[in-house]
Amino acid sequence: MWTKQDLQALVQRQTGDYRLVIVSNRQPYIHNLVDGQPQFVIPAGGLTSALDPLMQACGGTWIAYGGGQGDRYIVDQDNRVMVPPDDPAYSLRLVWLTEQEEQGYYYGFSNEALWPLCHNAYTEPVFDSRDWRTYQQVNRKFADLVLDEVGDRPAVVLTQDYHLALLPQYLREADAPIITGQFWHIPWPHAEIFRICPWQSELVEGLLGNNLLGFHIGDHCSNFMDTASRTLPVRVDQEYNRIDYRDDTTLVRPFPISIDFDDICQFSESPEVTEEMVRIQDEWGLGGQIIGLGIDRVDYTKGIPHRFRAIGRFFEKYPQYLGKVVFVQAGVLSRSDIEAYQQLGGQIDHLVDEINGRFGRAGWQPIVYKPDDLPAVTLMALRRLSRFCIVSSLHDGMNLVAKEFVASRFDDDGVLILSPFAGAALELTQSLIVNPYATEEMAEAIRDAVTMPQTERRYRMQQMRGTVRENNIYKWAARLLVELMQCARGSKVGRSLYASAGMR
Ligand code: F6P
Repeated sequence: MWTKQDLQALVQRQTGDYRLVIVSNRQPYIHNLVDGQPQFVIPAGGLTSALDPLMQACGGTWIAYGGGQGDRYIVDQDNRVMVPPDDPAYSLRLVWLTEQEEQGYYYGFSNEALWPLCHNAYTEPVFDSRDWRTYQQVNRKFADLVLDEVGDRPAVVLTQDYHLALLPQYLREADAPIITGQFWHIPWPHAEIFRICPWQSELVEGLLGNNLLGFHIGDHCSNFMDTASRTLPVRVDQEYNRIDYRDDTTLVRPFPISIDFDDICQFSESPEVTEEMVRIQDEWGLGGQIIGLGIDRVDYTKGIPHRFRAIGRFFEKYPQYLGKVVFVQAGVLSRSDIEAYQQLGGQIDHLVDEINGRFGRAGWQPIVYKPDDLPAVTLMALRRLSRFCIVSSLHDGMNLVAKEFVASRFDDDGVLILSPFAGAALELTQSLIVNPYATEEMAEAIRDAVTMPQTERRYRMQQMRGTVRENNIYKWAARLLVELMQCARGSKVGRSLYASAGMR
């Protein structure tokens, strides 16, 4: 099993004098102002849960957008701060954006165009040419800061996600001593879907600035290679998943992302979590009930209304569980300036009212909805208290909520109900895999979870824990770095770097 120490040793061996730089839109520690004082929060989403352990293990610099109101108070003159705040291990360097830049690049092109384009969730992408220009401009801004950070020392730059698709090409144009890798945290759709984007060639060309491009699963790699071959004059080698374009090569590989299994497991066992379990059972009136759980960023790709409809159907079919089963939905509100997210918020509130109004009774409601960005300890207590957890994504790159649920169940109990449209379904095959659009089947899966004998729950959970324990975040990072360094050796920049460093 890969550990933090193994990864540290590997990074030493593989990357030697190379500086490690991660670039992403979202920063791993956001400083807000609370009573005029900067206080950090860890943002929701797979990015931080996956990459912060890597950076803590390896050191280096993480470049990201400084979107917190308190960020400017905590950085030095270089816009840099050491993190994690309570045990500094690496440097976080922030990029400032104007309101207009944030609007056009983050809300606009990233989240109103690329996000719906890459997720088959039937929300129409908005392609606005002003947003596109801002996206280009902001990608340049990030690239300039990366180049400033790297200087003339060799570096490995790992770009994250869809906000920064053009950046690798900008780095390559600068002819800096940089080995470039990118991990695309969301799905890559079929070429037939991607071609509706008016700037598909520019985006694909931007990504081909990478020596290595990673997706969660093989299907997304194939979709990307197909898109590239239909968009640009490239040579695609299907056998080795490589794309030659102009004088450079990009390897396209699946790396199913994961979590720090041991860390989550240890936290889950802590007395702090046990105390929190007692508190919420008491204060939220959950005692003596079978608890179902959902934890999500409130996003239209997560299928939250779909799971609520299934819960409604479950109580309709099996009224004997009224008052005995409760579903707790924890949520983090996200991207709320975007209309599609506001509409989703309204739809969820309406469904919760409707289902609670229909089935609730004095002192009991079928759905407890907490869109309040609950603290980590409360989320962990909920994972431990739950009989089952539902991940009903309509489309999802991986979905780390599923893996976090499994990692937190050191008692080998709990049932995972999982959408086949999340990348995690390829690994967590002992979950109850159910199509979120099939309300009837999902209602049945809820019943199966509620009635499943303990021996079966135990067997399934043990299998899934074995999988996540083995395929943890350190293994993910190690595989990615090894592949990156290997393919870099064959590249133009890699050859000259190795030659100048006297390496072979
Ligand atoms: O997983 C995709 C992703 O965009 C991550 O990059 C990000 O951390 C997460 O979703 C949360 O989204 P946002 O940063 O827009 O709140």
